[in-house]
Amino acid sequence: MIKSLRGMNDILSEDYERFTYFIDTASAVAQKYGFHFIQTPLLEETSLFKRSVGESSDIVGKEMYQFIDKGENDVCLRPEGTAGVVRAFIQKKLDKAGGVHRFFYHGSMFRYERPQKGRLRQFHQFGVESFGIDSVYEDANMIMMVADILLACGIGYRLQINSLGDSNCMPTYRDNLVKFVTECKDEVCEDCIRRLDTNPIRVLDCKNDKCQTLYATAPKLINNLCDNCDSDFTKLKKILDDNNISYEIDTNLVRGLDYYSKTAFEFVSDDIGSQSAIAGGGRYDRLVEFLDGRPTPAVGFAMGIERLMELIKMPEPKKEGYYIGAMDEDTVDLVVSLAHKKRKTDKVTIDYKAKNFKNHIKGADKVNAKYFCIIGSNEVDSGTITLKDLENKTEQTLSLKEF
Ligand code: HAM
Repeated sequence: MIKSLRGMNDILSEDYERFTYFIDTASAVAQKYGFHFIQTPLLEETSLFKRSVGESSDIVGKEMYQFIDKGENDVCLRPEGTAGVVRAFIQKKLDKAGGVHRFFYHGSMFRYERPQKGRLRQFHQFGVESFGIDSVYEDANMIMMVADILLACGIGYRLQINSLGDSNCMPTYRDNLVKFVTECKDEVCEDCIRRLDTNPIRVLDCKNDKCQTLYATAPKLINNLCDNCDSDFTKLKKILDDNNISYEIDTNLVRGLDYYSKTAFEFVSDDIGSQSAIAGGGRYDRLVEFLDGRPTPAVGFAMGIERLMELIKMPEPKKEGYYIGAMDEDTVDLVVSLAHKKRKTDKVTIDYKAKNFKNHIKGADKVNAKYFCIIGSNEVDSGTITLKDLENKTEQTLSLKEF
């Protein structure tokens, strides 16, 4: 039997209802914040991700579904959504046009990771990207939007925030950190030694306990911010306080993608096991420029839909639509025709087999139909039907024509 690939799941039935419920809810919130839908291809040039997510990141270094296509192009399945949206933004010359551009998207992402609970190789993100605003109010806006989406889905969370500084203060901090780690080089793990050459600040979120103990006394990013980054971070905290969004400051939150500067944030859940990050994002003011666009400030986030599906509190299913049943073989054709007409405006369930009342009622319950009627020779002779409202437990008699 052929099975789906490891870490790649089918989404159907009840799962699909959760999946679409989340996307509909999140899209409605994003639209309230003035964001517009954007769709970008699943396949992009590999260099797009190398130049944005970064060659030193695990995503680009180890996890890309990369191949040479029939035209000898080096391509890969997108491991995340931001890079493609930035490419589209530049390609459509919106960077040159100036102004504010806000997008939301959802779709499959691909990372060749080791699959486990909450960690897939094909997973789905809902994300937003905002271009053209360098104010920290927009950073707060992103965080408030995630909080609103989670609230609308009945999902609890912890919010972690940090500032990664900018091109003013980050280089000095990085040098100090490298000096610190070099002094204890003999005791840190091999990955951290490698990070010293590629992307030193990633040592801060090393999963090795011994490294973490050593770094407890390392210089902290938020104590080394320049005036501008420091005042933005203070302002961000105030906006969150003013809006009753509680947060923790995590000075080791550096994110796994290289394009961030200033605000970085992650939403985590304590109810889904070790893969606890349900959303992550931050500011990326240099990325448009890195991808050859006109310098444009930007900020965004993405949420992991599979992780959220476990947590969503679905509303009670509402009874809807019609169930029409045939009582004998002779009336099946009529039921099919009635359903065809009625489906112009309503959801209609029918069964191609003639059944008795009891079995049809079972069928109507199964699909949670609001209205129920059965058609037998009596109905055909009288030209009327009895329409039962299964929700309000009432009934009315209608002519077949009226129905
Ligand atoms: P990310 O933190 O790599 O950020 O991914 C965002 C979310 O996607 C994570 O918080 C997690 O919920 C989910 N996720 C990531 N990897 C997996 C996986 N293997 N299986 C299941 N879920 C996963 C980004 O991708 C950035 N593009 C976010 C962003 C947008 N930053 C600015 N704009």
